[in-house]
Formats: sequence, C-alpha cells, structure tokens
Amino acid sequence: MSTRKFAAVAVGMTLALSLAACGGEGAGSGTDTDTGGDTGSSGEESEGGLIGVSMPTQTSERWIADGDAVKAGLEEAGYEVDLQFAGDDIPTQSQQIDQMITKGAEALIIAAIDGTALASQLQAAADAGIPVIAYDRLIRDSENVNFYVTFDNFNVGVQQATSLLVGLGVLNADGSEGTATGPFNIEVHAGSLDDNNAHFFFAGAMETLQPYIDSGVLTIPSGKTEIEQVAILRWQQEVAQKNMEDVLTAAYNDGTPLHGVLSPFDGASRGIITALQNAGYGSADKPMPVITGQDAEIASVKLIADGVQFSTIFKDTRKLADQAVVAAEAYLSGEEPEANDTETYDNGVKVVPSYLLESDIVYADNIEALLVDSGYYTAEEVAAGQTS
Ligand code: BGC
Repeated sequence: MSTRKFAAVAVGMTLALSLAACGGEGAGSGTDTDTGGDTGSSGEESEGGLIGVSMPTQTSERWIADGDAVKAGLEEAGYEVDLQFAGDDIPTQSQQIDQMITKGAEALIIAAIDGTALASQLQAAADAGIPVIAYDRLIRDSENVNFYVTFDNFNVGVQQATSLLVGLGVLNADGSEGTATGPFNIEVHAGSLDDNNAHFFFAGAMETLQPYIDSGVLTIPSGKTEIEQVAILRWQQEVAQKNMEDVLTAAYNDGTPLHGVLSPFDGASRGIITALQNAGYGSADKPMPVITGQDAEIASVKLIADGVQFSTIFKDTRKLADQAVVAAEAYLSGEEPEANDTETYDNGVKVVPSYLLESDIVYADNIEALLVDSGYYTAEEVAAGQTS
C-alpha cells in the first residue's frame, strides 16, 4: 500500500466547535465510566428533517468534540439532530441506531464501536431508504454503507512511526536521515482489533519501521510484532497500561534500556506512561522513552509540552465534522457526496466511496502553530492540560 497525499479542501460551513471539558484526565488517571447517554435532539423547529448521529463513547474527548461539531453543523444547516453516545457498548449502540430509525431519521452518521456489528441496523436503514455515512471508522461487512468520511488512516500510522524515528534521532523532523544509528530498543502497541482503523494505523507504522528493524537500527526485545499480540481492546487506557507492564516485566527487568514506544492513541499513551513511571522511568538514570500518540487530546498535549510524551497526531475533528455534514446534505438533496478516494476502503462487501482528510504530527515545538493558532485549543488550555 502506498501513502497518498490528498489535497483536502475544507468545504462547507464553519462549525462552532465546542470542545467539551473532559475532566482534566492526567497520565495517572483511569478511564471514566462511560454509561452511554442521550444528549437529546435540538428540540428546535427544523425544516431539514431528523438526522441520527451515533458516537462510540464519551471516555475519549475526541468523540465528544466530534459529536458536538457534527450536531452544531447539522443544526446550522437546518436539521434536527439525535446525538447519542453508546458507552463503548455494542448492544447500546445497536439499540440507539434502531431508535433513530424508528424516530424517522432521514440519514445516519455512525462512528461504530465494532465495525462488523451493525449489519442488521444497516439493513433496516437500507429498507427504509436511509443513507448511512460511516464516520471516521469504516463499517464492515455490509452493502448498506453509502459513504465514508475519515482521515488517511494508513498515513496516520506512517506519521506515528515517523515521529518515533524523529524522537530517536534516526530521522530529522523534515524526513531526512538523522545522525543516530542505534541500536534502539522499542516496543509497539496497536488499537482495538474490531476497529478497522487500528489495522491501517498499525500497517502504516510497521511499514515505516520495518526497514530499520531489518537493518538492526531498531530491535523489539519483547518479540511482540504482530497486531494480535499488541492490540488494546476498546483502546482503553488501563489495557494499554497492563500491556506495557507485562512487556516491561518480560523483557526489561534485567536492566535492558527501552528507548521508544509506538502508542496508537493518547489515552493509551497515558496508560503506557503510568506503567513506565511506576517502573521508575522518567528519572535521570532511566529517561522516559520516546512515546507517540494520536488525537491531540488536551491532557496529552500538555504532557508533550512538558516533555513527557514526545508526539501525537492532530486530526482536526472540525474538518471531519464538516465533511459529514456536507455528505448528509448531499444525500438529503438527492445528490451523491463527492469522494476523493474510491479505492482504499473495501469493507469486505464493497469499496465504500470515501472523503479522506490529512493529519499532522504534533511535537512540542509546533503545538502553538498547529493547535493554538488554528483555534483548536487556547494557550491557557494547553498550559492547564484541560479544556475550559
Ligand atoms: C480513531 C482514533 C482514536 C481511536 C480511539 C479510532 O477509530 O480514528 O482517532 O484515537 O479510534 O478512540
């Protein structure tokens, strides 16, 4: 698979993004209980009809921001919105989507918990003539997915691995070869196996790391290199922490140094950091390894500013929400949304036409340029490590 660059043009209206505060979760805190919840519909008179928006969880702040941004954009465009969060529970998400269909939703925007678990809901939607837009995560094994809005997920993995190599000094930030030759010890982690994205991220990352593993610049002392060995169920912070603890016990108790950790997501990175801190990393004689992430969560952006985590990947949820709104509007106007990729996302039954956005690597020295200047966070929020 090759990495492609897409000239992603942000089309459509400007969304009022309200980033909901997420409780200032720090590296040491566990994942909150996420019971699922109904944020209700707008209740306002609308001419555009009802659109159901199904998000996986509120434990990670990106999904709250995504849900709020999609809702705001649709309401601004004159639609009524039923926004639901499913508490990372598959039956809850299925029921919520069933209810959206019963309530008369005219389109569905869905970020699936398990990409293979929604076939019967999607059949019901298709039978009722309701278009389905997969949001960020591909819905698999169903004919009844009309469109997919997401980021270039393979490239996200490439960027994660690239930032790991930059942190080690093997590459320079501009992509040119750095001076460091190692050998370096690294460990890799991956997301939830039931999320199609996890496979794309891991494939992009491992393809980028492989030449350096082959040449001996990188070594993986635990021997865990397959996605099944390093997956983090539901992307949970506690699972990531436990996986890291197991690896440290198995391969590092004899004093072997650990130089880098590929982590797929900021919440997981915080679990990994906790495991490392508990094992004495972060001191002068045992420095914190280079640790990656994803989503530019505010608590992790602060950890990057503080030099604890090395990098994250910024995926601008405002732009993704824009694209979901544009796609929904197209369907409800009797048109097809415009795709910029019609090859990559085969869901097992068909290739789903997609609109892919680009992402950026965040390091300590470009937090301001990428996250503050774009209005994603304020400088005060970055300093505090929580949204206000
Ligand atoms: C998303 C990531 C996110 C992860 C965990 C993935 O599907 O693409 O942005 O970090 O889920 O929520």
